[in-house]
Amino acid sequence: MKKILVIGAGGQIGSELVLALRNKYSAEQVIASDVKEECPEIIKNGPYKQLDILNRDAVREYVITNEITDVYLLAALLSATAEKHPDFAWKLNMEGLFTILDLAKEGYLKQIFWPSSIAVFGPTTPNVNTPQYTVMEPSTVYGISKQAGERWCEYYNKKFNVDVRSIRYPGLISYTSLPGGGTTDYAVDIFYKAKKDAKYDCFLSENTELPMMYMADAIRATVELMQAPAENISIRSAYNLSGCSFTPAELAENIQKHVPNFTITYSPDFRQQIADSWPKSIDDSYARNDWGWKEEFGTDKMVEIMLENVNPALLD
Ligand code: NAD
Ligand code: SER
Repeated sequence: MKKILVIGAGGQIGSELVLALRNKYSAEQVIASDVKEECPEIIKNGPYKQLDILNRDAVREYVITNEITDVYLLAALLSATAEKHPDFAWKLNMEGLFTILDLAKEGYLKQIFWPSSIAVFGPTTPNVNTPQYTVMEPSTVYGISKQAGERWCEYYNKKFNVDVRSIRYPGLISYTSLPGGGTTDYAVDIFYKAKKDAKYDCFLSENTELPMMYMADAIRATVELMQAPAENISIRSAYNLSGCSFTPAELAENIQKHVPNFTITYSPDFRQQIADSWPKSIDDSYARNDWGWKEEFGTDKMVEIMLENVNPALLD
């Protein structure tokens, strides 16, 4: 029987992934864990363990004594925060991964999910329909850590037969938890401000096109990838995955269909340079061919759902 540990479960992805995994298996089989002392409200429907992924001994002891079979390792610093704390970002994003990969190498774990990002690409990558295999020269600490992580995942798979799987998530859009310090966060923030004040000052410029995805698609992709037969998984670094692509101006225009008096202004900051180094759109044909990936949510549907569900009180 599977016993799943989700590390970094209190964040934007973790909180929804825990609920999806508990629906699929059972609440008892899915342990949420995070460095946060208190279990976040949204995932209180099952077990919670406070764990710091940087405490290698504590993580090892918990996994071994509780006979954990699968780990979803989500704890990381995202792109914008990582640029402010480069040393710590490198430590957090890399050390935790080795702790989990080593547990699998030693036979304690059966499966690992570890997310990568579109940040593995850089300014020299072809940025329209970015292929799975292409030039990768990331220019951010976050991107470098994700690219190194991908290489190590593939290495542990080839060398030690570790069943580790990964996705290069685009910017993820959701309303249940606030995003945690990324460059794509504007595409979430904008909905809160549209609902609250009918105006938004965007930290990226109006024509900055980036790949994005509604969270329900990202969670389904994660579960589908983890369930796919091992022989179908041809990529052990990380799969490209595509949902939709848009610019802040296009998103604003779409929001105006629902909030006609909504206005947007632009004050690009340090995140502009990060965004400019990332793809505009992604070719995810390997995910489609290998494990049948297909997105369900386009921009229009995502905008409708977000405006209906965001709760501006979360910002207080
Ligand atoms: P998030 O910042 O919302 O959540 C991260 C969680 O990790 C937080 O709850 C935090 O408390 C926890 N955490 C931090 N340090 C920890 C530690 N030492 N030990 C245990 N937990 C710790 O991030 P997210 O958006 O949910 O992203 C999760 C993963 O997905 C990250 O690896 C991120 O790089 C990747 N990713 C996210 C996106 C996105 O758009 N959200 C896109 C691409 C990749
Ligand atoms: N959404 C993430 C970020 O902006 C991409 O990995 O950091």
